[in-house]
Amino acid sequence: MSEAFAHATVLLNEAVDALQVKPDGIYVDGTFGRGGHSRLILQKLGVQGRLIALDKDPTAIAAGRAIEDVRFTLVHRGFEQLAQVLQELGVGKVDGVLLDLGVSSPQLDDEQRGFSFRFDAPLDMRMDTSGGQTAAEWLATVEEKELAEVIRDYGEERFARQIARTIVAARQERAIETTKQLSDIVAQCVRTREPGKNPATRTFQAVRIYINRELEELENILPQCVEQLKAGGRMSIISFHSLEDRIVKRFMRDMAQGDKVPKFVPIRAADVPQGKVRLVGKPIYASEAELALNPRARSAVLRVAERLGG
Ligand SMILES: C[S@@+](CC[C@H](N)C(=O)[O-])C[C@H]1O[C@@H](n2cnc3c(N)ncnc32)[C@H](O)[C@@H]1O
Repeated sequence: MSEAFAHATVLLNEAVDALQVKPDGIYVDGTFGRGGHSRLILQKLGVQGRLIALDKDPTAIAAGRAIEDVRFTLVHRGFEQLAQVLQELGVGKVDGVLLDLGVSSPQLDDEQRGFSFRFDAPLDMRMDTSGGQTAAEWLATVEEKELAEVIRDYGEERFARQIARTIVAARQERAIETTKQLSDIVAQCVRTREPGKNPATRTFQAVRIYINRELEELENILPQCVEQLKAGGRMSIISFHSLEDRIVKRFMRDMAQGDKVPKFVPIRAADVPQGKVRLVGKPIYASEAELALNPRARSAVLRVAERLGG
């Protein structure tokens, strides 16, 4: 792998240890990236084990072709298609699913991808460059109200309305096609500077989440993880911002509680619906040692749940 576009895997041991890899188990890495977690899972698997990895970014898939291992299958698909992919591969239930959400360092560091305001580049931001709308295409037509909602909800940006208004006014003059154009527009509107944060950070996050449907896809994959896991199988999920983490946390909590029975319904203790998962430990954050090596790990949170059932 080229050093320029390497990915420093976050919570590597913590996320893989949480899976309690069995040598002959079947595992899924839903976010292959550059394969940091996948490689460690493969090290822990025996000859009968199997790892299925997915990524929707063609460059991740190309990088993963370097792994020549009969136990390993790499698929260019979104993880929200997990159940379908497992069915197509003829794989039944699995022993573990790992998701390391968000963007990879190679995506952020390759200026041509348009994810970062650090470079002046075409405003693309698609993880899957094989299809779909680019950020520039979306910004050319989106209605001001929807744009403001996206920036407010996905960027948690206080100045969302002003930013949306300024983008819509600016695009009448000239199409917004580059990261620099977008970050310059946002900088005009964001009046309170957050220490250490570029004023465009929240808007770029919002547009990226929207373009890649990141929260919908997360909502979609979580129930599939539970359904595809064998009893005792584990899901190990790393989130990178509060919106993702809230979805993962609520989902795991609800799955651990089971269906609610109205208070007035008489029910024997043995008939109280059981949860489908049990929460494993507390959320895990990167250690000081990891943060010193990789500051991008500072917002990472790992949550783990185990499938219950006979
Ligand atoms: C943080 S990186 C994963 C890094 C990886 N764990 C490693 O150690 O190299 C996230 C990866 O997930 C991919 N990704 C994000 N959303 C996805 C989705 N819905 N389906 C498949 N891949 C997705 C991105 O393209 C990116 O390569």
